[in-house]
Amino acid sequence: MDEKARKLAAAKQEAGHAAADMVEDGMVVGLGTGSTVYYMIERLSVRIREGIHVSGIPTSYQTAMRAREYGIPLTTLDDHPVVDIAIDGADEADPRLNLIKGRGAALTREKCVAAASLQFVVVVDEQKVVNRFSAPVPVEVLPFATRSVMNQLRALGCVPVIREAVKKDGPVITDNGNFIIDCKFPEIPEPRALEIAIADIPGVIESGLFCTFMEKTTLVVGNEKKCRIITSADVIP
Ligand code: 5RP
Repeated sequence: MDEKARKLAAAKQEAGHAAADMVEDGMVVGLGTGSTVYYMIERLSVRIREGIHVSGIPTSYQTAMRAREYGIPLTTLDDHPVVDIAIDGADEADPRLNLIKGRGAALTREKCVAAASLQFVVVVDEQKVVNRFSAPVPVEVLPFATRSVMNQLRALGCVPVIREAVKKDGPVITDNGNFIIDCKFPEIPEPRALEIAIADIPGVIESGLFCTFMEKTTLVVGNEKKCRIITSADVIP
């Protein structure tokens, strides 16, 4: 591993471990998806071995498999429609704690779990904290409606691209059986307005814009040595 990759992994580990330490005995925990969440799962498994009892709700097959491997008891959102704490990664976070998520194509389940949670802890490294979004916005789409949705996304000002799979020919198929369209906007001046406009398109399942969770969000920003915490109290009105 080169020095840059080692520092990035260390930053993710700092954030993931700090988030796992926010979990309390008896909690139902939303388990997000991705490489930063991986470190949270790693640390949560240690805390379980030390004696706390938790149940996890995985947001993807990847996370369910990892959680089982690490001995984290699993449950479902149907069994626990109110979640004590959800811990998830993000692709970008802006100063109002709006997020772009979905690089791992798990955005729909991640948004369902975040919405059901009393606390939403987001684990990122410093590079992902931005003043203005520039990452593409992933949109999960019903395959039946792909071309019509793409036309309507284009009308919102983006260049939409169907996400291609790696080690499979053709599109990525999400855990829900749908396609992902990555939407590159030249700028996103009003993220919440865009989230609403995308959600309004028939055939859209969800977008990776997460703009309604600011009040319950704790952003844990890791660097290679430690982390800093940003909450809604730090957001300038
Ligand atoms: C998956 C996600 C991930 O949480 C997000 O892409 C961050 O992943 P990573 O921690 O690997 O950078 O939204 O759908």
